[in-house]
Amino acid sequence: MEMAEFVINGGRKLKGEIKVMGAKNSALKILPASLLFSGPLKVEKVPLIEDVFRMVDLLKNIGAEVEFTGKRAIKINAAGQIGSDLKKDIAEKFRGSIVLAGPVLARTGRVIFPYPGGCVIGKRPIDIFLAGWTKMGAMVRESASGFDIVAKHLSGTDFTFRNISVTGTETLMMTAVLAHGKTILRNAALEPEIPSLAGFLNKSGAKIKGAGSPIIEIIGTDGKLLSANKAFEVIPDRIEAGDFLILGAMIGNEIKVMDCNPEHLTTLIAMLESLGIKIRKGKNWISVSKPKILSSSDIKTKEYPGFVTDLQAPFTVLMTQAHGESIIFETVFDGRLNYVDDLNRMGANISPLDPHRVLVRGPTPLRGRKIESPDLRAGLAFVMAALIAKGESIVKNIYQIERGYERIEERLQKIGADIKRI
Ligand code: EPU
Repeated sequence: MEMAEFVINGGRKLKGEIKVMGAKNSALKILPASLLFSGPLKVEKVPLIEDVFRMVDLLKNIGAEVEFTGKRAIKINAAGQIGSDLKKDIAEKFRGSIVLAGPVLARTGRVIFPYPGGCVIGKRPIDIFLAGWTKMGAMVRESASGFDIVAKHLSGTDFTFRNISVTGTETLMMTAVLAHGKTILRNAALEPEIPSLAGFLNKSGAKIKGAGSPIIEIIGTDGKLLSANKAFEVIPDRIEAGDFLILGAMIGNEIKVMDCNPEHLTTLIAMLESLGIKIRKGKNWISVSKPKILSSSDIKTKEYPGFVTDLQAPFTVLMTQAHGESIIFETVFDGRLNYVDDLNRMGANISPLDPHRVLVRGPTPLRGRKIESPDLRAGLAFVMAALIAKGESIVKNIYQIERGYERIEERLQKIGADIKRI
């Protein structure tokens, strides 16, 4: 297996325009949704990343026809015979594979899949998905190798999420689209990828009300498949845009983040402005520079529209450069603060307070080191740390980064970064 790494020489000021790609977490939902359609579906602005390639592999493996028709456009046709068995060695490689389960179950009446995995934080529970499917009439069997879910008939139900779950909301919404009768989902997630998906399904004949609010109502088609005549356009990746904004705040001499949707980033923008960072924005761009003095702030990650957990690690890197102390409180995931030891090896001063909180004391200069990506978001945070560090860093295990970021080194080179992929 190819073991690529990034070699980075830090300290260069960055300047210029950097483009945001389509959102990984939007593309990873619309590709599975293609199983709800009776004919071909076109998807545009698909990011060319590992998680998308693996999702395409899984779709082909169960019988869908998938074809790249343009640089970032895909045509998927799931009109033929669709299987129920998600290929184990691909599915267990990334947590996102779980998003296929709902559409496969709704489409074929059965789905078999392994325990979800991917990275350190990918191995999280799916109990909420199982509870939802069970309420819709499915039978769940669990064995050492994973899950086997059978539903001769799926009926609408009134379901309350006891914890907010993004993919849980999307999964039950997609399952309910083909079920019999009405489903109400309460305490649903609000992430922008959800109304985007629902809007497209509605244009294609689904009846979903309230997506983007905590209560979603779906009237099922009772097995009738949807048909699309317009292409789905993947929305801009708000996490990638947020990464670039944070990078600009650390080392930018006016970085302009292009092709993003500032409306999806208002919480981060408000936070950065409160630290003394000047931000300018237009309809689809945001620009940012490093301030003379960067203040510190505590953050607490939350579901949308709160401070997003996927930007928690980059924000911690930013706080190593801020004047004062900040407490970083991760409330969404367990084990998403494991990267701080490596930042300390680079010269940061971060002390764990408890499993969900760390204290950052800044500012501290960082030094280049050899570091390994634990997951894609912390992996990119290491790249950002390396870009502000003195000397050379080597970031290993960049497969984790390339799961979610398309040709990140080329885009960073264009704004002046000294980064090579070897
Ligand atoms: N949870 C359960 N049981 C479940 C489902 C979730 O206990 O059945 C817990 C999780 O363990 C976690 C919390 O609920 O502690 C919230 O997880 P959620 O289900 O909302 O996360 P997700 O849907 O699995 C998506 C994104 C993540 C992003 C989170 C939070 C996709 C494919 N993934 O995950 O993205 O961090 O929402 O916004 O949409 C990433 O892109 O790097 C990434 C991890």
